[in-house]
Amino acid sequence: MAENTSEQAGAGAVPRHVAIIMDGNGRWARARHLPRGAGHRAGVKSVRAVVEESIRQGVQVLTLFAFSSENWRRPRPEVDFLMQLFLTALRSEVKKLKENGGRLRVIGDLGAFPERLRLEIAEAEVATAANTKLTLQIAANYGGRWDLTEATRRIAQAAATGQLDPATLTEASLASQLATAGLPDPDLFIRTGGERRLSNFLLWQSAYAELYFTDLMWPDFGAAAYAEALADFGRRQRRFGQTSEQVMGQGAQALDSAPESPHDPDRVSSWP
Ligand code: IPE
Ligand code: IPE
Ligand code: MG
Repeated sequence: MAENTSEQAGAGAVPRHVAIIMDGNGRWARARHLPRGAGHRAGVKSVRAVVEESIRQGVQVLTLFAFSSENWRRPRPEVDFLMQLFLTALRSEVKKLKENGGRLRVIGDLGAFPERLRLEIAEAEVATAANTKLTLQIAANYGGRWDLTEATRRIAQAAATGQLDPATLTEASLASQLATAGLPDPDLFIRTGGERRLSNFLLWQSAYAELYFTDLMWPDFGAAAYAEALADFGRRQRRFGQTSEQVMGQGAQALDSAPESPHDPDRVSSWP
């Protein structure tokens, strides 16, 4: 297994956290004169392939965008189909994830989901909680702006009740209120399906992610295509605001990932 050196420049580094916008299911199906649902169903195979390859290569966190805050705007039958597929995939895939030593975590506004689905998500999270090989994070009814709004609401509430002195708020303490709290930021951000946009995915967390876009539709994105994306990441130089010379000068020594801005003290607030 490759050593985890995602903060290092180039040299075949493996990203610690990969975030993926799994796009193109509908177009994949349309090209085959199939209903859109067939594309979503075919996409589950790609999820499996990418999870397995992540474990093989030593990726620690994999975040997959399954349903966005904006996807409610789709026709009702497609939304219902996606909910049903989520439940089916949860049942079939979590067992495999557990056997492979993976842990499930679901982020997003789950309150809008059917009760049955919420219950099974909670059960799957508990059943895999002790696993440490890979954290598979599914973003469902997730939006970057929703995440930031919720965090801000909690911070404002804490300030209003006197639990938090606004002067002590830091980037780290704000990040601790996001849905992804406790996990490293994405190093590599992949979008399949040919579009080159972020679609309200991990907005704060991807501040320094390396972006990778591919024209492959999600159901066509298998282990080999994913391995190529990881290899591409390994050839990049991450600078986090420094010069290329500075980065080279640090040699094999890891850079701090996306260091806090110079005026921001290192101190991490203990709130809450
Ligand atoms: C991504 O594929 C899956 C979800 C958004 C749930 P799409 O359904 O967006 O596929 P295209 O973009 O229409 O091809
Ligand atoms: C983003 O894909 C959301 C998911 C993959 C779940 P969309 O296909 O919904 O994104 P837009 O609307 O084209 O930007
Ligand atoms: Mg799409």
